Amino acid sequence: MSDLVSHPAEHRVPELFEAARAVQSRAYAPYSHFNVGAAILTATGHVYACCNVENAAYPVSTCAEAGAISMMIAGGDDSIAAVLTICDGDEVGTCCGGCRQRIREFSSPTTAIYACGPEGVRAVFTMDGLLPVSFGPDNLRGFVQ
Ligand code: THU
Repeated sequence: MSDLVSHPAEHRVPELFEAARAVQSRAYAPYSHFNVGAAILTATGHVYACCNVENAAYPVSTCAEAGAISMMIAGGDDSIAAVLTICDGDEVGTCCGGCRQRIREFSSPTTAIYACGPEGVRAVFTMDGLLPVSFGPDNLRGFVQ
């Protein structure tokens, strides 16, 4: 993994990169042929990784980030310290809009989101940078019991 973008040691980016790359190779993407891997580092130090899983009924497909979040919740964690995604192609592949909202549910505005290509990190964003002025759990405080 090359260091195109600096990252603090506590984000354990090399470990997240390897976890995301391992699951990217298992993506089920026979329709788009666009394999994605996502790895989450939680505040408790656990790592959860998943790939995208497509479906012949296209809208039923799930993104890699969504799968990793489900695994995180099933694993008993709910606080994201960093996210790393990996995809192929020449462009910087950032999380789709839906996944930005999914990640936001369990993040802080400063949570780091690393976008990688096969060679390493291409860009890093903050949660607030990817989804500014976002809607979240605080907006529902006082409305739901
Ligand atoms: N995909 C992800 O897994 N994460 C994203 O943030 C962007 C898109 C997947 C969904 C679909 O299987 C394929 O990439 C093409 O859109």
